[in-house]
Amino acid sequence: MSLSVIFRQHIALRQKSTEQALRECRFDALVIGAGELQYYAEDDAAVSHRSYHHFNHWCPLSGENHLLVIRPGQKPELCAYIPDDYWHEHADLEDAFWLAEFNITSFGNVEALWQHIAKVRDGIYIGPDKARAEAAGLKTDAANLLPRLNWERSFKSEYEVKCVERATRRAATGHVAAREAFFAGGSELDIHHAYMRAIRQIDRQLPYETIVCLNEKAAVLHYHKKRDKTRLGKTFLLDAGVRYKGYACDITRSYAADAAPAEFRNLLGGMNKLQQNLCGLIKPGLSFEHLHAQAHLDIAALLLDHGVLRSVSKEQAVERGLSQVFFPHGLGHMLGIHVHDVAGKQVDRTGTLPTPQAKHKTLRASRILDAGNLLTVEPGVYFIDMLLKPQRSGEHAACFNWPLIDTLMPCGGIRIEDNVLVTRSGQRNITRAFLP
Ligand code: GLY
Ligand code: MN
Ligand code: MN
Repeated sequence: MSLSVIFRQHIALRQKSTEQALRECRFDALVIGAGELQYYAEDDAAVSHRSYHHFNHWCPLSGENHLLVIRPGQKPELCAYIPDDYWHEHADLEDAFWLAEFNITSFGNVEALWQHIAKVRDGIYIGPDKARAEAAGLKTDAANLLPRLNWERSFKSEYEVKCVERATRRAATGHVAAREAFFAGGSELDIHHAYMRAIRQIDRQLPYETIVCLNEKAAVLHYHKKRDKTRLGKTFLLDAGVRYKGYACDITRSYAADAAPAEFRNLLGGMNKLQQNLCGLIKPGLSFEHLHAQAHLDIAALLLDHGVLRSVSKEQAVERGLSQVFFPHGLGHMLGIHVHDVAGKQVDRTGTLPTPQAKHKTLRASRILDAGNLLTVEPGVYFIDMLLKPQRSGEHAACFNWPLIDTLMPCGGIRIEDNVLVTRSGQRNITRAFLP
């Protein structure tokens, strides 16, 4: 189906669920701001602009200051900011697949735009420009409304899944090119450039800065430097995505060259199987927090199988926090417009959080899964000096195979990350369809 057809369905869903949310929260209209430009302190250079996420949920138009007005029973109104400006290029409203879903008015300056918005009665504003909204007579306390809108965000429409698939197709070409650059002996900078050339984008279009790690840097979870001097890496971790119409994919792969220790290559093979197994368990009704707990047990078993841990059962290794030393982050998170998308911990549409609070503090998603949820599954095993050091003299020191750990430290670590859509019958791994 064409993008315009599934976009129309997407907007129909937004309209219906937003009307319900407005009714429940007793507002007559919803105004969503794309957000103003932000500037570096005392500078005339602006920070690269991203539309406010709920604006993007309705409309893929990029650029600052636009406003959307959603009213029950009416076609959404897009107030587009298109000034006369010979310094910058602004929104182009020609031929876009989504135009037909909005009544569009263009405004040449921000004041005129907000004067128009001031006519909206009993409206609630969401977005970054609250002071302007209040000056225009809008309400800005959306504490009841936002959890409802966030909840809807966690059920992807066909249009949204298509956007993530298109992002993934591009990212897969980048991952393949990056892998080739690694095996050719390239530096982190070379590999980053290989990725960017393949996806045919510039850095500010990325959903997040690429994480390109050779060797020991794979132990820095969000490592952003791009060393140019280190080449001929023995191990390689790439966490890199693409954005399409505001929707992100978030993909990690780990590799080992022939020169890497055999113990690391074996561990990598085991992690691949472990990760695929976890992805395959996803289905409606499963608690993601439970899957995270399962990942800890699986990782403990893997570390025992490969002789990294010893003299404990996998259950004891988890209970004593030993798996946490190697896997110190959450198994995954909701994915969408935000890379770490909204509503991962909500129990229901009103925003109830789990009680007692989820015990896995690093976990960004703890929900019972349902069809339409899109999540990452990204187990990892890292050799992080900061976390290992206290264990060397701790009460469980004898459970660690220190000589083997010292052999593996220069390899950094392993993370494997796919994006998985929960379906009615189970799951669909969107990443593996493009990057087997
Ligand atoms: N790329 C960031 C993350 O995996 O969460
Ligand atoms: Mn992720
Ligand atoms: Mn990632």
